[in-house]
Amino acid sequence: MKIQKIVAGNWKMNKTLNEGTSFVGKMSKLLLDIERTKVIFCPPFTALVGMMEQLSGTTHGLGAQNCYWKESGAFTGEISCSMLSELGVKYVIIGHSERRHVFGENDELINKKIHSAVSHKLIPIFCVGETEEQRKFDETQEVLEDQIDRGLRELSNLGDLIIAYEPVWAIGTGLNADESQIEEAHTFIRKKIQNNYSVGDSENMPILYGGSVNPKNANSLISTPGVDGFLVGGASLERDSFYQIINKVEQYSKE
Ligand code: PGA
Repeated sequence: MKIQKIVAGNWKMNKTLNEGTSFVGKMSKLLLDIERTKVIFCPPFTALVGMMEQLSGTTHGLGAQNCYWKESGAFTGEISCSMLSELGVKYVIIGHSERRHVFGENDELINKKIHSAVSHKLIPIFCVGETEEQRKFDETQEVLEDQIDRGLRELSNLGDLIIAYEPVWAIGTGLNADESQIEEAHTFIRKKIQNNYSVGDSENMPILYGGSVNPKNANSLISTPGVDGFLVGGASLERDSFYQIINKVEQYSKE
């Protein structure tokens, strides 16, 4: 089976509700000719409801940037997976490098979040990736292996899980990983999923690349073997650059 290409925009802590709905309103018109690529918008929590209304009737998806694993209770400031799924949110980014490094999330917490998301029929966009230091010391594969083993611990069914390979040193730096680094990492991740699960699971699981994707490098990155799409940060905030990236992926899918 050929995996449908995906382009997800991670807005991080950017855009208010009004900015988000207006962006998506305009963007939906531009996206009318996009048929093969799955586009996913991941705005801050406050824009989810409004954007859901705007996206209803389109094929584009809506994702949250985080969740908490408990169902409800005394967890000030947190949002549960049932709250997200009631809104119609379909995806949730889990284990993003900023959550790991700025907010101190560890693999154990990430694992709980993944279990909670899957049990609420949300599709996790599970982020993994090495730091600059770890790459320098040739520990990339070890790090990816650990993050996958621990993050997916006791998850018997992957469902529609998406993995995003995002080298930490490439996020927001303007310095994307090169094609051979990406191919190597994606092949390693796929093999790991094959070993932990099955050939079928590994062949059907989308692996996105993220880290300084922009309209200029999108073409060569999407043609890199094993790349099923992108998780885009900075370049997803501007209509033109996000559309150009999506369109490049779409044109590639048509070839
Ligand atoms: P970037 O961010 O595209 O701005 O590098 C990617 C991400 O954090 O998902």
